[in-house]
Amino acid sequence: MTAAPDFVPPRSAPHALSTLGVVLVAAGRGERLGAGRPKAFVELGGRTLIEHCLATVSALAGGGHLVVVVPAALAPDTLDIVAAVSHSGSAWDVSVTPGGRERHESVRFGIDALPGHVDVVLVHDAARPLAPAALFERVAAEVRRTGDAVIPALPVADTLKRVGPDGVVHETVDRSPLVAVQTPQGFPRLGLAAAHDRLGSGENSPGGLGSGGLNPGGRGTASSGPTDDAEVVQRAGGTVRTVAGDMFAHKLTTPGDLALLEALLSAQSGDTIDLTS
Ligand code: C5P
Repeated sequence: MTAAPDFVPPRSAPHALSTLGVVLVAAGRGERLGAGRPKAFVELGGRTLIEHCLATVSALAGGGHLVVVVPAALAPDTLDIVAAVSHSGSAWDVSVTPGGRERHESVRFGIDALPGHVDVVLVHDAARPLAPAALFERVAAEVRRTGDAVIPALPVADTLKRVGPDGVVHETVDRSPLVAVQTPQGFPRLGLAAAHDRLGSGENSPGGLGSGGLNPGGRGTASSGPTDDAEVVQRAGGTVRTVAGDMFAHKLTTPGDLALLEALLSAQSGDTIDLTS
């Protein structure tokens, strides 16, 4: 594993007093990417996705507690990565914990690993390695201002169609009230933990909603498991608000996303973007 050469140690702050927690979920297998290793351990611009996220979170002013949730077999490698990028004056405490089979289980294990005095939690996908510090700060500030769950959202630009399992279009969907949502998603800790507990106990399981037949991918419908934490909280009756998302928070899912993220990384570093190769 490579160390992050330009890892910037945060300005010192008394992390023992910080009440911000970040759960970085990185325990997915990443099968759709087909990289031969878990997605969070794929390199982008010479650094693993985990290293990119560690650098961003560790630069957040005020410090806090970061839990990195990884496949159990990769916990030792992750500890090496954390040790390589950490500095003694860091305002961030970082720990590593094994994940679960489903994303929401990994999040739950991450919440459980946070110290008791953390009162606001940001849950972030390692698969969004370029989400900027400003986005983390915007979400956390809105959670503190409102006391509600807060998620980054972007307007949907494409025309949307509802399609059957046979690929035939049934209708065009009005996109005006629709947004695409990202991470980090922010929550008051108690509400998030309670919502995940309810999900774990089966109280929030969907019932009587059919098989989700118009969802060829089979992911993220009201009749399947939740694909983000906002849905977990919403199922438990919580209010979820939005703030402006960020195009740099793009998610790595398929090999095509890797090319796009390379271009975004160049843009973030101030290099010229070359989209022709
Ligand atoms: O699979 P998907 O891309 O939706 O996963 C989103 C994020 O959740 C990724 O960062 C992935 O590593 C994480 N995840 C996890 N534990 C799982 C499944 C996914 O931490 N069991």
